[in-house]
Amino acid sequence: MKSTLVSAALLSVASAAPAEQSTQNATAFLAGGNPFAGASVYANTFYSKRVEAAIPKLASGLSADKAKAVAKIPSFFWMDKLERVPEIANFVADAKKMGGNVVIPLVVYDLPNRDCAALASNGEYSVKDGGAEKYKGYIKAVKDQIVAAGSQKFVLVWEPDSLANLVTNMNEQKCQEAASAYKELTAWGLKEMNLPNVAIYLDAGHAGWLGWDANLGPAANLFAQIYQSAGKPAAVRGLATNVANYNAFKFPGGACPSYAESNKVCDESRYVNKLGPMLKQKGFPANFIVDTGRSGVQPTKQQKWGNWCNVIGTGFGPRPTANTGDALVDAFVWVKPGGECDGTSDRSAPRFDAHCDSPDALKPAPQAGEWYQAYFEQLLQNANPPI
Ligand code: BGC
Repeated sequence: MKSTLVSAALLSVASAAPAEQSTQNATAFLAGGNPFAGASVYANTFYSKRVEAAIPKLASGLSADKAKAVAKIPSFFWMDKLERVPEIANFVADAKKMGGNVVIPLVVYDLPNRDCAALASNGEYSVKDGGAEKYKGYIKAVKDQIVAAGSQKFVLVWEPDSLANLVTNMNEQKCQEAASAYKELTAWGLKEMNLPNVAIYLDAGHAGWLGWDANLGPAANLFAQIYQSAGKPAAVRGLATNVANYNAFKFPGGACPSYAESNKVCDESRYVNKLGPMLKQKGFPANFIVDTGRSGVQPTKQQKWGNWCNVIGTGFGPRPTANTGDALVDAFVWVKPGGECDGTSDRSAPRFDAHCDSPDALKPAPQAGEWYQAYFEQLLQNANPPI
């Protein structure tokens, strides 16, 4: 995933946001800058229950106490279907009990023609089947929950892989069919979600995807265009990188790993420091969060950098923190909940993607998003720093 460039200009955004939205600003939350600074990130009960259920089944030699510690590390909750949205109310009730400055981390992930260049995470809506209207219903359901939560703060990672696919995968028919819907719905959704208790980071792939010289410029253009079409919403804080991927923030040692081929931008630190200035120049807020959840083992055992599915030999990575040592990076976060699957290895299953049957993918693997006990155990065993 590293070449085809996007050329299409942004289509104009069809519907204007209601007047009260466009006058809102995010002063309450984002005027102070980094939304993670001084905040506790909520560790959701959906994930902690999954981890607790995994403990009695742990392979011998693995520590229940360590697994319990993982259940307390905050990861993001993926609203990968409309039916998951009401779960937010439970998180809000919990977070209020905690008191103090708590942010709830969520992933917005339900665009029509989702995962347009792959199969494993195809979603519930399609462009051909009225998916744009259905997606608006989904966004409104999320917004209703967030508005109902009053002053509770939320951090949203916005639609993993979607815009990155428009930068490099326009050779795929499903991405061509999705492109205008992705752009229009992203701009529309950002306007809709421009609320005073929300900070949004759009997904920006990773170093091995948009970090190539040929892709950086087109990526910066696309993010800036979308941001402008959305009316520069104050709630947009920046970009999320390395979501569900395996790259180091700083690759240890001098030389880049062999799977990075000729790309010298072989870690997320180099990637955000290349992309950041390009975004700034175009007026886009160049702040980043980086998913370090599965980046503990470096170099990875990927045969190709683009291999994204259940990669073998990985370990939990650096813990979530706002102390990143990089002025461009607001926080290290765990966006992908460690132990949830990337895609099934069953060749006869719906949504089978060949990447999940690659020699560097752990098998046998269940459907994307389902609990994958052996993968959780791998991450726990190889955690670095150790859990
Ligand atoms: C899956 C989602 C899941 C998410 C987080 C994605 O690959 O398609 O269903 O919620 O990963 O595990």
